[in-house]
Amino acid sequence: MIGIILAGGTGTRLLPLTKVTNKHLLPVYDKPMIYYPLETLINAGIKEIIIVTGKEHAGNFMALLASGTEFGARFAYVLQEGAGGIAEAIGLTEHFAGGDSVVVMLGDNVLFDDISSEINSFREGCKIFLKEVQDPERFGVPEFERDGRIINIEEKPKIPKSKFAVTGLYIYDSTVFDRIRALKPSARGELEVTDLNNAYLKDGKLSYGFIKGQWIDAGTIENLHLASNLVKNKTRTKS
Ligand code: G1P
Repeated sequence: MIGIILAGGTGTRLLPLTKVTNKHLLPVYDKPMIYYPLETLINAGIKEIIIVTGKEHAGNFMALLASGTEFGARFAYVLQEGAGGIAEAIGLTEHFAGGDSVVVMLGDNVLFDDISSEINSFREGCKIFLKEVQDPERFGVPEFERDGRIINIEEKPKIPKSKFAVTGLYIYDSTVFDRIRALKPSARGELEVTDLNNAYLKDGKLSYGFIKGQWIDAGTIENLHLASNLVKNKTRTKS
């Protein structure tokens, strides 16, 4: 399985911190933000990782992460020009991913679960990971049937149909690239990961699990601060 970390975007919700740098290079306590999703993948045994980012700061990612040797992994870099969305960014990795399944993590997602068994047991379709949150309207939100099946996912709904967020961790089989080609841009002109997941769902190929430990999308000032505190407290408990 190939890992993909999405580290593009303009980071407008973090201005002025992101005026001259990329959001994923900002510190979360003692490390740059992108180290957290990288470590989640590497600790799960993923050794080939593609980092997708914008051209403005691509050089900084290469300077920071280099070939991956230091992490015991191999990194490749892919450029996303413009704000085409998460699904577009995944699509850009097709050439590198070949016919493999991919595990995708958004570069601003911080979580501490060991995901190796999820990766090893994955066979086909798409698997998403949910977390109960106070503010589901900020995320992709699943709607459940009584039997626990997901029947739809809505992107940032005004009136959420459940208390769960779809986190930025996704596993896809190799049909993902054909499915992305079939997507149409949303109202904000992007290829949405929620539309991609709904495409799998429509074919009966979406499954889900839960994030058991803490999870933060560190893409806002408040959450960036929360993420730093969370890591600080974890580090303290360990030492
Ligand atoms: C993105 C996705 C959303 C998901 C979230 C998780 O939103 O579009 O479905 O729940 O990541 O972090 P963004 O944070 O880019 O607005």
